[in-house]
Amino acid sequence: MPEADKDGERYSLDQPQQTPGFYLKGTHQLDWGMKNRMARVFSPASGRTVMLAVDHGYFQGPTSGLERIDLSIVPLLPSCDALFCTRGILRSVIPAECQKPMVLRASGGPSILREELSDEQIAMDMDDAVRLNAAGVGIQVFIGGEHETRSVHNMTKLVDAGLRAGVPVMGITAVGKAMVRNAKYFRLACRIIAELGAQYVKTYYVDEGFETVTASCPVPIVMAGGKKLPELDALTMAYNAVQQGASGVDMGRNIFQSEAPQAMIAAVGAVVHKNMKPKEAFDLFNTLKAKSESVAKMSFRGAAE
Ligand code: 5RP
Repeated sequence: MPEADKDGERYSLDQPQQTPGFYLKGTHQLDWGMKNRMARVFSPASGRTVMLAVDHGYFQGPTSGLERIDLSIVPLLPSCDALFCTRGILRSVIPAECQKPMVLRASGGPSILREELSDEQIAMDMDDAVRLNAAGVGIQVFIGGEHETRSVHNMTKLVDAGLRAGVPVMGITAVGKAMVRNAKYFRLACRIIAELGAQYVKTYYVDEGFETVTASCPVPIVMAGGKKLPELDALTMAYNAVQQGASGVDMGRNIFQSEAPQAMIAAVGAVVHKNMKPKEAFDLFNTLKAKSESVAKMSFRGAAE
């Protein structure tokens, strides 16, 4: 039996992990190509990233806010640090002139019509990620799920291919319906993903003990947004996550389902890169939202005249 896990103890939160010679946790001993791709995603200035996650269609189809990625997401590209999308959307919709780093969804299988979502396989070749000039690839890992072992092996195969090509892998903690979403679960899932070779981990925020999740994970963590929340709550969650050790966010619905996505991504950026407090970021959101509404009104009038 493994040693019992004493919640919250021995994480030495006051002693950050050392990363001699490079600014990103757990990344300083990687090869040049890996480091360069990580540095395209994680700002060397702040050490953090605002990734915009729009890969939902790989199992959900045209979900709310992503019906027309050309109209809803392409205008947001200048405001994110990286886009997390599928290769299908990349080739068909994202302008090839775009200089933003692209992280590609590399797993798939069951759709939302199936009960068991953990039955995934690797769904793209690393060769194709390289051909597409990807800055990384992302894959679900279902710790505790029915197909846990397969999803772990999917990730380790992808990590091996990524190491050959110099492409970082983002392991994503996919939480089954039966799992309890607490710090203990996420410590376990994030650590397994990092131990088995992922260069960074995407996981959910929890109100209690998130700092132990980041402290016990030896590679950078980005926070997934999850279901749509009121804007102030989503900004507060992002703020708490980065203050508690996350290296940024990979948010989808809380940005593209916002009533003002452009204002929301700017506010998230201020929280992540400038440590802006949630209330101040919410004021920024409202100011930018009001401005975009008045610009929209003016152009509507202009078109009518
Ligand atoms: C699912 C994913 C998705 O990219 C992502 O989590 C969805 O983003 P959000 O929850 O913020 O809408 O990786 O596991």
